[in-house]
Amino acid sequence: MIELKTQEEIEILRENNILVSKTLAEVARHIAPGVATKELDRIAEDYIRSHGAVPAFLGYEGYPATLCISVNEQVVHGIPGDYRLRDGDIVSVDCGTFMKGFCGDSAYTFGVGDVAEEVSRLMAVTKEALVKGAEQAVAGNRVGDIGYAVQSHAEKNGYSVVRELVGHGLGRQMHMSPEVPNYGARGRGPLLKKGMVICIEPMINMGARHVVWGRDGWTVSTRDGKPAAHFEYAVAVGVWKPDILTTFDYIEAVLNQTSN
Ligand code: MF3
Ligand code: CO
Repeated sequence: MIELKTQEEIEILRENNILVSKTLAEVARHIAPGVATKELDRIAEDYIRSHGAVPAFLGYEGYPATLCISVNEQVVHGIPGDYRLRDGDIVSVDCGTFMKGFCGDSAYTFGVGDVAEEVSRLMAVTKEALVKGAEQAVAGNRVGDIGYAVQSHAEKNGYSVVRELVGHGLGRQMHMSPEVPNYGARGRGPLLKKGMVICIEPMINMGARHVVWGRDGWTVSTRDGKPAAHFEYAVAVGVWKPDILTTFDYIEAVLNQTSN
């Protein structure tokens, strides 16, 4: 029941995810104290549409925006609005596209201005956990190997893993089989095969793992109000190594430009 993609389909998925990666880099250029999150959403929507794609989140189960922008204790699915970024915030920006019949879906957590050392470490460890999870996306492994790799790296560093939201298969629809939890046991869960395309998206909390839903019906926040970080890759399962369809290189090129 888990779809296997042809190489041609994987290339279209790659095109989508590269567009998502470039959109997040465009957003990165504008992340600064004082910027309203809805301004970032507008930038992303314009960028996606001017590159021949449509925002995949907009209208998805009624979701009202192009990006999910989740600040500090917000874990995921924050709706862009009037909130203006402040020095020291961290902000997960999640973006999806639809083009040529397939989807892209990736996310990155940015620091705004000067971020506390312990919060920067949460972001770094979450990104490392994503990379370690993605390394497991090879044929013959199981979905539980990914979750185990993510969870053990997060917990070894004193953080906790959100359970209520998971990664997912990606293809013509944004959410497909299998579910890809960020926790699990080695050797358990669905078998990974070449041609499967999945999104791995660890949501890692500095405090306890529990989350609550906001009154807008979307925003997921930590129950204890401590910060959370979130990064997401789309990955095609490979025979010898994973084929990561997302790249953070465009984003990190922007972040490494000294702006002060
Ligand atoms: N990356 C998110 C996810 O996989 C994007 C979905 S947000 C939604 O859940 F608004 F579109 F639902
Ligand atoms: Co996703």
